[in-house]
Amino acid sequence: MQPWCVHVVAGEAKEKLSRAILDAFEAGGEGHKRTWKYYPDELFEPYLSRSVRSAGGSTAARIGKGDHAQMKAQRAQNYLFFGAPVGMIFTIDDRLEIGSWLDYGMFIQNIMTSARGHGLHTCPQAAFADYHRIIRGHLGHPGGSHRDLRPVDRI
Ligand SMILES: Cc1cc2nc3c(=O)[nH]c(=O)nc-3n(C[C@H](O)[C@H](O)[C@H](O)COP(=O)(O)O)c2cc1C
Repeated sequence: MQPWCVHVVAGEAKEKLSRAILDAFEAGGEGHKRTWKYYPDELFEPYLSRSVRSAGGSTAARIGKGDHAQMKAQRAQNYLFFGAPVGMIFTIDDRLEIGSWLDYGMFIQNIMTSARGHGLHTCPQAAFADYHRIIRGHLGHPGGSHRDLRPVDRI
């Protein structure tokens, strides 16, 4: 099935994408939201405790509680790819089902593991998913998924 479609951005294309998303992020509002859920609305045990425990080690958690400006600045770093020189945007045809998403996870993990073999680091980011409409415009995605892309645009 190979349900993956990867768009690689660097240099000016990456900077333009970052700027467009950051503008929308700064403007705020409810207009940007991912079309899928990472977690259920109400997290339950044992996952709730685990998620709180693991969040305790994150950079965001080291920022003082209530320091919204710092929190927002840290979140904004997502859209600068945390300073990485290359960004990879992964898209999937939204008619595919959970099995293909499982396959996709393995594909992404392989890229991450392979990158380490080449001395490179990676950082998976779900944060981009909220800005799918902006990303679509920048990557020439006219439809709701990658189904409209020409084969040459797919790797
Ligand atoms: C699927 C997935 C999505 C993630 N999305 C984000 C994200 O959007 N923003 C972020 O700061 N960290 C995100 N993380 C966490 C980081 O990618 C990273 O795993 C975490 O900071 C721990 O990094 P380390 O193991 O190198 O310390 C995500 C992790 C995974 C596995």
